[in-house]
Amino acid sequence: MDEKHIRILRDLGFDDISEKNMTNKYWKSRGADALALTTQDRDVYGCVDHTRGEGVRIFDVEGTEYLDVTGGVAVRAFGLRYKPYLDFQESIIDVVHELPGMDFDAIPQTLLAEKVASITPGNHKKRVVFTTSGGRAVEGCMKSAMDLSGRRRFVAFRPAFHGRTGYALALTSSNSKHKSGFPQGVDVIRIAYPYCYRCPYGQDVEDCNLECVEHLRYALQVEGDDIAAFVMEALSGEGGLIVPPAKAVQGFYELAKEVGAYFMSDEVQAGMGRTGKWCAIENHGVVPDYVSMGKAIGGGYPMGASIGPAPMFTGGSRHSETFSAEPKMGLLSLWILKHIEDGGYLKKNAEHGAYFLKLLNELKDKHQVVGDVRGMGLMMGIEFVKDKKSKEKAPKLRNAIVKNAVQKQQLWVLGAGQNVMRLTPSYVITKENIDEAVDRIDKAIKESV
Ligand SMILES: Cc1ncc(COP(=O)(O)O)c(C=O)c1O
Repeated sequence: MDEKHIRILRDLGFDDISEKNMTNKYWKSRGADALALTTQDRDVYGCVDHTRGEGVRIFDVEGTEYLDVTGGVAVRAFGLRYKPYLDFQESIIDVVHELPGMDFDAIPQTLLAEKVASITPGNHKKRVVFTTSGGRAVEGCMKSAMDLSGRRRFVAFRPAFHGRTGYALALTSSNSKHKSGFPQGVDVIRIAYPYCYRCPYGQDVEDCNLECVEHLRYALQVEGDDIAAFVMEALSGEGGLIVPPAKAVQGFYELAKEVGAYFMSDEVQAGMGRTGKWCAIENHGVVPDYVSMGKAIGGGYPMGASIGPAPMFTGGSRHSETFSAEPKMGLLSLWILKHIEDGGYLKKNAEHGAYFLKLLNELKDKHQVVGDVRGMGLMMGIEFVKDKKSKEKAPKLRNAIVKNAVQKQQLWVLGAGQNVMRLTPSYVITKENIDEAVDRIDKAIKESV
């Protein structure tokens, strides 16, 4: 960190900060003492330098450079400090920032609502509520579905991740650490996510009769079908980067319609063009009633959107959020959407994702411990197993590979699920970066088995 930025921290009242204490050990220890929670492992990651970084290059406070394939868990559509984005930010420096939306009309939020509605599937009349997180975007949709249907129960999947608060947590089931000890906010019928590599019904892809859909049909018959909405990730992110077959997603959609329930696609991680379509659910040929967006829509700022069928709520004041769609954030989101469009990023993401997956498949052929690789566009996973035949999950090995990748290969990468490595790079990743990333993963595997 340069002198200027150390000075800024000192001017903010922290006289103890100097170049001397710019070490990962110091800041991880100070962070552990001050912060109640962190979802990531301090044993693996350094303390990121908030003053450096470019594109897919991220730095820790000791100056170590990493190749970032997390995209900030799908937050940084255009990577770190993307010049055209910074220029746009500069150009709107004088807009009034302290005008959060929802209580009053303001132009940016209206234009953004129009835009967001236009890039979600279906020509039906939609309405939009802006939020400050993905979990709240999910909850906005859930509240609307309950309000419009008069029903209170949901169908959700295992694994699934929809957020860590209230109603969203009630849908989540990707890690018991998120759940145990907390009450169930809403009633959920939970069903296995269509996970063909480990089909819970013991079927092969070729013999599949959509047992997962039939199982849910049975559950609805015996548990009741007064369901407000089926909530599904078009591909499971946090749960382990699982890509469901389109026919299963279509089957669930049709079942939702049979019982008069809404179908909701949680696009917080997979949406915003990441998979090569604006919404990942489009890859399955399904038009959802509700869409929740987050992460990349804010370009690094806290922003989310609940999109649902008009009128979305039965009356005024049924739902709102103080800080949603603040004008600067609204303008930045509009810029991001336009740039995804103008820059042809839907096509680029599909192409780069296919190239990435091709190289990952080569890794699969090469390593006994790579059980499966899968993905859609720039959202991919590598599933680690003890051996290909038994398919026994190898969570410790996955952890060792992630640790080696970060600490030895300088690849900034995350896990997902119990034994999967998650790859959700920024859209500015190049083929050269992808070659480099796969080479580093290859080395991390070799050094960890
Ligand atoms: C699919 C999905 N839904 C919801 C969320 C929750 O978003 P947030 O952490 O912004 O509340 C996430 C976060 O990872 C997610 O991946």
